Amino acid sequence: MLRVTVLTLFPEMIAPVVGQSILKRAQEKGLLHVEVVNLRDFTADRHRVADDIPYGGGAGMVMKAEPILRAVETVRVAAQEHAEEIRLVFPSPHGRPFTQRHAKDLARERRRIVILCGHYEGVDERVRTALSPEEISIGDYVLTGGELPALLLIDAATRLVPGVLGDPESAVEESFSDSLLEYPHYTRPADVRGMGVPEVLLSGHHEAIRLWRRKEALRATYLKRPDLIKDRVLNEEDRRLLNE
Ligand code: ADE
Repeated sequence: MLRVTVLTLFPEMIAPVVGQSILKRAQEKGLLHVEVVNLRDFTADRHRVADDIPYGGGAGMVMKAEPILRAVETVRVAAQEHAEEIRLVFPSPHGRPFTQRHAKDLARERRRIVILCGHYEGVDERVRTALSPEEISIGDYVLTGGELPALLLIDAATRLVPGVLGDPESAVEESFSDSLLEYPHYTRPADVRGMGVPEVLLSGHHEAIRLWRRKEALRATYLKRPDLIKDRVLNEEDRRLLNE
């Protein structure tokens, strides 16, 4: 069971995504639990202000430190009452680039994963000073907040939790688990506007199908993402398939 708490000023952004499709089913099966906490509930003033103008001037607002520190303390104490530890994750462009390896690591996590979503121009630096969160970047671009990255981390991790995907092999077998892009997929009908299906997939020869898929995965990776295999030492079979 993957336990996640999302700390955000925009709680309504989370439910529509985790309430659909595979994430929804994972929760129904008891393999994922997502709790959303509104950071505004941890403000101390009548107007529930969670952001303020930056010291030194400049455009945009900065999220105040205190509501975040209080929210994390509250979640930590609540977790401890259930004998749980927390792992604090802070989506940010400063972070380590998120990869499938990261997703696997999150999927195996036994602690509660607490995702702190920044918004606006950023959070008061003293949040970093006080909490030293694990920063994760989903790419070299800047978003308006950490909510979309949070959803992305939850999605990528959840599908790797055993039992979430129908076929126990599909998560392991496919793309990136082996650092290769996926082979092409086809489904019925066999003819789509005159476009057919590779004969081998209709042949029923499992070994021939396996080799074809491996070859297509290698080819796609070599052509579209050579960076993924540039340092890879190919085994005999892969070398042969790539040179066919
Ligand atoms: N917040 C804003 N931009 C982000 C990014 N690229 N990755 C993670 N969190 C972010």
